[in-house]
Amino acid sequence: MKLINGKEISKSIKDEIKAEVEALKAAGKRLPKLVVVLVGDNQASQVYVRNKERGCQYTGMLSEIIRRDNNCTQEELLKIIDDLNHDDHVDGILVQLPLPKQIDEQAIIEAIDPTKDVDGFHPRNIAKLFLNEEGLVPCTPAGMMAMLDAIGYDLDGKEVCVVGRSNIVGKPVSLLALARNATVTIAHSHTKDLPKVTSRADVLIAAIGQPKFFTKEYIKEGAVVLDVGMDRDENNKLCGDVDFEDVKDKCHAITPVPGGVGPMTIALLLKNTMKAYKMRG
Ligand code: GUN
Repeated sequence: MKLINGKEISKSIKDEIKAEVEALKAAGKRLPKLVVVLVGDNQASQVYVRNKERGCQYTGMLSEIIRRDNNCTQEELLKIIDDLNHDDHVDGILVQLPLPKQIDEQAIIEAIDPTKDVDGFHPRNIAKLFLNEEGLVPCTPAGMMAMLDAIGYDLDGKEVCVVGRSNIVGKPVSLLALARNATVTIAHSHTKDLPKVTSRADVLIAAIGQPKFFTKEYIKEGAVVLDVGMDRDENNKLCGDVDFEDVKDKCHAITPVPGGVGPMTIALLLKNTMKAYKMRG
């Protein structure tokens, strides 16, 4: 079994970006800048945002966090986004989700300039992904493709089963796998006989948010398993959607949790910010 080390792979991506930033600095050019907007006091969001800031600092990119409390109105947030859209020093805008209930998330996502939408959630970027056109691709799905590249795994003609159909992970990763000529199945909570469906897969992508759900009867011998889960087990220990100990000897390769898909998301966010910077010229 090969352990797919997300920390190591993400570090090599961040190191490439760091070298690009250093070259820009040496040439006296403006540096790429990411602005993260954090509304409210969601604990997980605080951790994610701190990690994003650390990622920027590692590469030498500029970053700023705009914080607002739980009472922030939609109008206030739309004004912040409008200002960032028009700020020539800002390349990437990320509004951390979830947002407080008085704010319509979709309206906020749609207000972000698609050329600065480093999350890749704007309908214009989703359409580009659908049409196989160059655009900003959601970070976690793009991170999973980068992991497959890093282990030299070619999806062409392979059976990929994605379990979970979220707009952030399940749907976009299915499109990316399809663009690489995989035969893609999207399974979800209404799928009948899930083990029968998943055990056909050469690549299983687990994105359902249930701790240690996938045991070895769900896995094909020699499969590649990508675990997007960030769950807590019965001892409150961080774990994935896959029962790692149970399946590890049956897989060809598997991502651990933590240290698997998670760190890739930040690396691809930084890569998207660099891409947005270059697109803006
Ligand atoms: N909250 C959890 N994951 C994400 C993400 O990828 N982007 C944003 N903006 N918020 C999130």
